[in-house]
Amino acid sequence: MLERKIIAVVGATGAQGGGLVDAILEDRSGEFAARALTRSVDSEKARALVARGAEVVAANVDDAASLKKAFAGAHGAFCVTFFWDHFSPEKEIAQARAMALAAREAGVKHVIWSTLEDTRRRVPLSDDRMPTLMGKYKVPHFDAKGEANQAFLDSGVPTTLLHTSFYWENFIYFGMGPKRGSDGKLAITMPMADKRLPGIAAADIGRCAFGIFKRGAKYAGKSLGIAGEHLTGTQMAAALGRALGQEVVYNAVTPEAFRAFGFPGAEDLGNMFQYKRDFEAEYCAFRDLAVSRALNPALKTFDAWLAAHKDRIPLG
Ligand SMILES: NC(=O)c1ccc[n+]([C@@H]2O[C@H](COP(=O)([O-])OP(=O)(O)OC[C@H]3O[C@@H](n4cnc5c(N)ncnc54)[C@H](OP(=O)(O)O)[C@@H]3O)[C@@H](O)[C@H]2O)c1
Repeated sequence: MLERKIIAVVGATGAQGGGLVDAILEDRSGEFAARALTRSVDSEKARALVARGAEVVAANVDDAASLKKAFAGAHGAFCVTFFWDHFSPEKEIAQARAMALAAREAGVKHVIWSTLEDTRRRVPLSDDRMPTLMGKYKVPHFDAKGEANQAFLDSGVPTTLLHTSFYWENFIYFGMGPKRGSDGKLAITMPMADKRLPGIAAADIGRCAFGIFKRGAKYAGKSLGIAGEHLTGTQMAAALGRALGQEVVYNAVTPEAFRAFGFPGAEDLGNMFQYKRDFEAEYCAFRDLAVSRALNPALKTFDAWLAAHKDRIPLG
């Protein structure tokens, strides 16, 4: 029997990494083996992964030595950072550098870095259509990931820069779910005007990553984007309404109004939506639906995602 190629998965107990681990464990060809990285090897989620056949190893993206150990002997590594745990772009960049270095030192053959656009390439700090945040960013959680691409390029490890999309799970976990307005109607609120927002089932990111590892050489050293569908606010509201069995409308606020909502990250997200609105054509075109589906034939549409998740959407 051929030896399985180990894929070290950062964030294996989470959304993106979890989708990748699932895809590896479900793959009948047995070409790859899943090595799940976690800070707590004894957690319920970690133990469940062991029970399903994954190797589980301790690692923390803040601890370079633990990463090097966890990447040792791996063919591939899936690298992701966790902006919303700390809100620090500098921390994200440092963690990405540590992962890139560890991949090089461990002799990893193919890295997938879960990244996003550095929005400052299209909206330089001097462009006052949106405020500069934290002194040197427009969309901190995007810009940091885009800036960190360089660490992977510098590492010399063949790396796929995988540009992800808005998780539809944000309607469940991220406060984006329909809320009842003063008119009594449920509404989703986004500053996207009538533009399309690329979205994806979070687990499909990891499943697309699996398709990239399977195609190895075709995507190593390349940059690509993925999405499940590109939908306007009106289309998402209509789909939510159908799934929930009650009317949902789209409340298209301005980016200025969104930034002023005051919750942690509101300015970052307001700028993010404005960027996606203003560069809709390029942003959507880069996230090719046919390519995403070729990588992951089980890619969910928004309707399919809703059918599976509608009961978990909190209605405010
Ligand atoms: N929400 C969106 O729409 C969206 C869209 C695109 C991209 N993103 C990006 O996605 C990233 C988050 O990915 P995700 O959603 O897959 O995360 P997640 O579901 O929150 O999972 C994170 C997992 O990683 C582990 N983890 C956390 N801190 C760690 C550390 N210091 N070292 C090692 N492991 C750590 C945790 O597992 P253990 O507790 O087991 O260690 C956790 O289960 C963010 O950077 C965000 O910007 C989000």
